[in-house]
Amino acid sequence: MGVVAERDAVAILLEGLRRLEYRGYDSAGLAVLDAGQRLQRHRTIGKVAALTAAQAAQPVYGHTGIAHTRWATHGAPTEFNAHPHIACDEVAVVHNGIIENHEALRRELRAQDYAFHSQTDTEVIVNEIHAQLAATGDLGQAVARTVQRLEGAYALGVISSRAPGRLIAARKGSPLIIGVGIGEHFIASDISALLPVTQRFILLEDGDIAELSCERVVIRDRNGVTVNRPVQTSELSAQAVDRGHYRHFMLKEIHEQPRAVSETLEGRLSQSRVLEEAFGSEVGAILDRVERVQIVACGTSYHAGLVARYWCESHAGVPCDVEVASEFRYRSHVLAPATLLVTISQSGETADTLAALRDARERGYLATLAICNVPQSSLVRESDLILMTRAGPEIGVASTKAFTTQLTALLLLIIALGRRHKLSADCEAAFVRALHNLPRQLEAALALEPSIEALAEEFVDKRHSLFLGRGVQYPIAMEGALKLKEISYIHAEAYPAGELKHGPLALVDAEMPVVTVAPNDELIEKLKSNLQEVRARGGRLYVFADAATAIATEDGYVVQTVPQSDEITAPIVYTIPLQLLAYHVAVFKGTDVDQPRNLAKSVTVE
Ligand code: G6P
Repeated sequence: MGVVAERDAVAILLEGLRRLEYRGYDSAGLAVLDAGQRLQRHRTIGKVAALTAAQAAQPVYGHTGIAHTRWATHGAPTEFNAHPHIACDEVAVVHNGIIENHEALRRELRAQDYAFHSQTDTEVIVNEIHAQLAATGDLGQAVARTVQRLEGAYALGVISSRAPGRLIAARKGSPLIIGVGIGEHFIASDISALLPVTQRFILLEDGDIAELSCERVVIRDRNGVTVNRPVQTSELSAQAVDRGHYRHFMLKEIHEQPRAVSETLEGRLSQSRVLEEAFGSEVGAILDRVERVQIVACGTSYHAGLVARYWCESHAGVPCDVEVASEFRYRSHVLAPATLLVTISQSGETADTLAALRDARERGYLATLAICNVPQSSLVRESDLILMTRAGPEIGVASTKAFTTQLTALLLLIIALGRRHKLSADCEAAFVRALHNLPRQLEAALALEPSIEALAEEFVDKRHSLFLGRGVQYPIAMEGALKLKEISYIHAEAYPAGELKHGPLALVDAEMPVVTVAPNDELIEKLKSNLQEVRARGGRLYVFADAATAIATEDGYVVQTVPQSDEITAPIVYTIPLQLLAYHVAVFKGTDVDQPRNLAKSVTVE
C-alpha cells in the first residue's frame, strides 16, 4: 500500500492495511516522509491493530508513505523482518513476492559495505536501490536499474528522502494497482484497500514501473517506454468489504451464498438452457473443438475442480483431469489434442496457478479458460476465455462463497460443453431447473445453522476427525475437512468412504468424530454399509443426510437432515452444513476465524 497526497497519508495507510490484512498478518509496518523529508517508521509484530496502537502512542505524520502487512517467507515474523525496509535512512521499500537471487545480490552489496538487519530477501532490493540512487541521482531510474537485476516476483512500493512527494511502484509476477484520486495517488495490491479513497484504478502490467506524485502518474513498460494504461472504474463500494452486523467475514460470506450464486447465474440461463453466448462471443467456437479438459487450481479451488471432473465425465462425456497447480507446473505431462485448460482461482493471483497458466500457453493447449472472482486479476487478463464467478469480495481466508460460485460456474461450463457431446436437451433442461432452484435450496440449508451450532460443541475437545463421502460428494468431504482444519486447527482428513477399510478404519474409536455427507444418490446404499463399518468400531458418526435416505439418529449416529436438493446440485447444497460446522467449531474454540494462523488469503508467492 502506498500514498502520495496533500493530506496526511498515515490514516489512509492504516485503513488500507486493515482491509488488506486478510492477505497476510504476521507483522505490519509503515514509513512516511515527515515535514522535514526524513523517513519515519513504525513496525510491529502481529496484526494491524498493533501498528495502529504504535502510531497512536507515538504519532508520525507525512504526505508520502508506504505500508505493508507481511506473510513470512524469508525469515520469521519479527519486527526486524517486518516491512518497510530502509537503507541508510534514505530509501524505504515494501515488497510482496520472492527474490530468488537474493543471496548473490546480498554478497555483492555486502562487498560495497551495505549492512543487513533482517533475514528477508527484500533488504537486498532496498540496498540496491540505494546504491543505484547514489549512482544516478534519480529514484525512478534507480528502481528501473534495480528491477533489471532481480530474479523472481515482486510488487514494490518505494519512497526516498531524496525524492520528496514521489512514490515509485513496480511489478512483476505479483499484483499491484494504482488508485487515481483528485490531486492524490495510491498503490495497493488489491483494490479493496483503496475503496474508501477512490473507485478509479489503473492496472499495472508485468514489468511496468510507475512514478506517482500528487499531480500525475507516469508509467513506463519493461522497455522503458512511457505508456498509457487506461483508468478503470470499479463498481465495488467500500461497504462491500465491510463485515456489517456479522461477527466474522466468514459468517457473512457463508450467508451471502444464495445471493452470490444468483449473481453467478444472472443472465446466463433461460428457462431450459444455458446461454453460453453470455460467456463471451468466442466461447462457442472454441467449445465446438474441445475434446478434453485439464483443470488446474490450488486449495479450495482445486476441490471445485475435483467436483467438476465427476460432472464433466458423467454428464458431458468429456475426459477431464484435475491437478494442483504446484504439481502440474513442474511435471512433464502428455498433452492430448484439443484440450481446454481451465484454471480456477478466487483471487486470480495465486502464484502457482498463474505459473501453470503461463506455462500451458507454451505447451499447445487449444485454449485457456479462467474461472475467477476478481475481474482485474492477472489470471483474467492472461486467459483466452473468462467465466467470472461474481461472488463479490471474499475476505475470510477460508473460502466459502467463492467455492460455491465456482461450482455453479463450472456446472454452466460443463452443460455448455456437454450439449456438444452426450448431454441431451432434456437433461440440460433438468439441470437448468436445478440451477434455478439452487439459491432457494441454499437458503434452506443455511436455516440449519442453530442445530449445527449445537452439534459443533461436541467437536471442541477433539484433536482429529475424518470426513467421508462417495462419488461427487468425496471432494465435498475434502472441502469440509479443509475448512475444519484451516480455522479450528483440528486435524481433519477426508476419505472416499469405500477406501475406509484400507487404512483409516484403524483410527476409528470413540474419540474420532466421523463426518459424512449423504444425499440420496445412487451410492447411498454403499455409503450406508461404510457407515456401519464405522459404527461397529465404536466411532461416532455425524451424518448430513437427505430425509429420503432413512438414516436416523440412533446409537452412534447423529443425523442432521439436509433439506431436499436436486441431485446434480447436491454437492453445492451439502457444502453449506460443512462450512457452518467448521465455523461454529472454530468460534467455540476461540480461534481467529477470518485470519487463521499461518495462512493467507491470496498466496502470491510460490
Ligand atoms: C489460499 C487460500 C485458500 C484458497 C487458495 C487458492 O490457500 O487460503 O482459501 O483456496 O489459496 O486461492 P485462489 O485465489 O487461487 O482460489
